[in-house]
Amino acid sequence: MPAEGEGYDVVVVANRLAVDRDGTDKDGHPRWKRSPGGLVTALEPVMQSQEGAWVGWPGSPGDAEDAVSEPFDWGGMHLVPVSLSAEEVQGFYEGFSNGTLWPLYHDVIVAPEYHRQWWEDYVAVNERFAAAAAEVAAEGAVVWVQDYQLQLVPAMLRAARPDLSIGFFNHIPFPPYEIFAQLPWRRQVLEGLLGADLLGFQRPGDAQNFLRACRRSLQLVPRQQAVEVPAADGGRRRVTARAFPISIDAAAMDELARSPEVRERARQIRADLGDPDTVVLGVDRLDYTKGIGHRIKAFAELLDDGLLRADETILVQVATPSRERVEQYRLLREDIELQVGRVNGAHGTLGHQVVQYLHHSYGREEMAALFQVADVMLVTSLRDGMNLVAKEYVAARHDERGALVLSEFTGAADELGQALHVNPHDIDGLKSAVVQAVVMGPREQRRRMRSLRRRVFEHDVQRWARDFLAALRPDVGADVGAEAV
Ligand code: ADP
Ligand code: G6P
Repeated sequence: MPAEGEGYDVVVVANRLAVDRDGTDKDGHPRWKRSPGGLVTALEPVMQSQEGAWVGWPGSPGDAEDAVSEPFDWGGMHLVPVSLSAEEVQGFYEGFSNGTLWPLYHDVIVAPEYHRQWWEDYVAVNERFAAAAAEVAAEGAVVWVQDYQLQLVPAMLRAARPDLSIGFFNHIPFPPYEIFAQLPWRRQVLEGLLGADLLGFQRPGDAQNFLRACRRSLQLVPRQQAVEVPAADGGRRRVTARAFPISIDAAAMDELARSPEVRERARQIRADLGDPDTVVLGVDRLDYTKGIGHRIKAFAELLDDGLLRADETILVQVATPSRERVEQYRLLREDIELQVGRVNGAHGTLGHQVVQYLHHSYGREEMAALFQVADVMLVTSLRDGMNLVAKEYVAARHDERGALVLSEFTGAADELGQALHVNPHDIDGLKSAVVQAVVMGPREQRRRMRSLRRRVFEHDVQRWARDFLAALRPDVGADVGAEAV
């Protein structure tokens, strides 16, 4: 524990820090870029409005020569790096987190792998995160642990620091017991999570899946969204599991999208694309959960059928590089690039590619401009905890134009009732929805977009954090994001 009066009152612990190491500048200082993914998108505005610390991995092996190990400030946040060795990156991050848990928690879209060495690395790294959080948290602080990479941290932290209030939020789905039961270490994972006082999930169904797993695996009987577990003082402790659907900083996206620079950039992008009648957009990490192949297939068939014209339509697919050393991600990249090549080979002409595939990460301004260019936004995940891209698209459309095609297998579908919902496995259904979106008139676009925008602005990320923290510790929750509201 830090000395009396020292340490932070609010500590977020996530595998990723807000920034990812991007080499070293010419003066030998570390260079940083924003980390990929929805977790960072959501937590960054919350932590910028807070005097808290963010404990996480800076994204390169800690035994690298230029490793960063001291706390530093970035973008108005206090960041506390946790080092991983190259072996741990392999066993804990690429292995157990992204080769075992990620596919297991996403409907086993690809087969999870179970390796005892990966599990050992997962335990060891979770211990290191718990120790780092325990070191910076003030007496009686709130520690908010994030996501599937750190499911053992709540119990480890409670053992070390029983004075803390501990919350946990799972950004990805929690699977039905019939799938979760495959995990050889299912009891340990549940016991790790039960170290928290409050467990947050994206959807009510995820919280129910968790509570059912507690019943089946640990014989705990859930009552009123909670289970009781033995406490260190010999009594009982309640652990609550509820849905807190995550969101975005809607006002910030709206403001960015309204800026003259972004509007000008949107005009320029459209012109660069050859001013087509319809721009269809997909924006994802290059991940097999996102259904990118399904959407390209539907798009290609619409061109084959003559229901979309290659000279009038463009599909822009932005695919952020992700987890590139994990085998399934390498295979996915090859598949998608082959598929894009085939469609362009069949339907492209000299100087015009009907699918524009961009394997890059972009800044926020460029994203906001792309959202404005998109007449149709395609979100076709096969399984997705929330999908923040869908909410960003809506927040960027202050003109109340555009149409959102949204997979029913995203958390966002529960909230965004006025999107065109699809089952991405149903290619014919997906094709019909794309056509419906392409021909949708301005009146219908406006009607739907107004309702979507109302939802996203009323339920923004500041509200998400306030609701969670107020449920965990009412005295802390009240202040969160106060300036931003
Ligand atoms: P996930 O967390 O699984 O990646 P989300 O849709 O919830 O999925 O969040 C993705 C976040 O990453 C969004 O904020 C989105 O704008 C951002 N993002 C996705 N692709 C890119 C890209 N190519 N460049 C920059 N940001 C991106
Ligand atoms: C999702 C996960 C996050 C993760 C992000 C990016 O949003 O829920 O925990 O940080 O993807 O993935 P990466 O493996 O690059 O951290």
